Amino acid sequence: MGPTTATCFPFLRDLVFKRSGIVLAQDQEYLVEARLGVLARELGFPSGNDLIGHAMESSDESLQTRLVECMATGETSWYRDVHPFDLMKDLVFPELISRKSLDRQLAIWSAASSTGQELYSVAMLLDYFFPETSDWDLKLIGTDLSEKAISRAKEGVFTALEMNRGLPAMLLAEYFHRQGAKFQISDALRKRTKFSTLNLVHDWLPSGKYDLILLRNVLIYFDVPTKRQVLSSIWGKLNDGGYLLLGSTETTLGLAEDILPVQSSGTTYYQKRGSQ
Ligand SMILES: C[S@@+](CC[C@H](N)C(=O)[O-])C[C@H]1O[C@@H](n2cnc3c(N)ncnc32)[C@H](O)[C@@H]1O
Repeated sequence: MGPTTATCFPFLRDLVFKRSGIVLAQDQEYLVEARLGVLARELGFPSGNDLIGHAMESSDESLQTRLVECMATGETSWYRDVHPFDLMKDLVFPELISRKSLDRQLAIWSAASSTGQELYSVAMLLDYFFPETSDWDLKLIGTDLSEKAISRAKEGVFTALEMNRGLPAMLLAEYFHRQGAKFQISDALRKRTKFSTLNLVHDWLPSGKYDLILLRNVLIYFDVPTKRQVLSSIWGKLNDGGYLLLGSTETTLGLAEDILPVQSSGTTYYQKRGSQ
C-alpha cells in the first residue's frame, strides 16, 4: 500500500506553513490531489500522496519548493474587484501625482503579484489615464513566493481564458498583441515593470520606500501572528502619505490598531500619516 493522506497531509501542512506562512486547514485534504495530481504525474508518481511520500523520504529541496508553490493559491485577474482600481484612478493617483509633481517619481509594489495581472493593470491604468507620468521615474515592482508565477509575469503572455477575466476590450486592443492562441503584453509595459521572487514571511523586503503597496488576497492565507508581522513590515515600507490596498475581504482591524481604514469608491484604503 502507498502512502496515505493521514500521513502525507500533516507533512505537507507543516512544510507549507514553515516555508510560506500559509495555513492549510484539516478539511483541505482534498487539495492534495487537486493541486499536486498534475505535478505528481509529470514527475512519474501515480498520485499526490506518492509524490509527498517521496518528498518525505528524499528531503529534496527543489521538490519541497515546488510542493509549496503548488499549494499557494495563485488566483488572480485583471482589475480584480474593480473598485480599488476606480479608487486609484479617482483618488490615489491624482493625489500622488499632484503631490509628487516636483520630484516626478512614483514607487508602486504589488507584494503578492501572482502571474502579474495586478501590476500590469496598474501599469495600464497609469499609462492610459495619466499620460503625464510617461516620462516620470516610475518604479513598478511585482513580487511573489512562486517562481513559476514570477516567470510567467515576466514573460507577460496570457491565455484567452485569462484575458477574459476582467480586461476591458479597449485595453486589450491598446496593450496586447496576439501570439497564436495567446496574448503578449506590449514591450513598453513589460519594460516598465520588474518582477522577482520574494517571500513576505521569510525574506528581507525590497529596499526603498513605496507610494502605493498592493497586498491583496494573500493575508487571508496566514494565521493571525503572521498577518500581524507581514502588515507591520509592509507598513514600514510606505512613504509618508503612501497608500496600502488589501483584498476586498481583508482588513487591518484586530491586527494593527494604528493602521486605520478609510472607505471610498466602494472600497477601503489605508494611508500612512506623517507620524506613523
Ligand atoms: C490569491 S493570489 C493574489 C494575487 C493578486 N494579489 C490578486 O489579488 O489578484 C495570492 C498570491 O500570494 C502568494 N503568496 C502566498 N504566500 C506568500 C508569501 N509568504 N510570500 C509571498 N507571496 C506569497 C501566492 O504565491 C499567490 O500568488
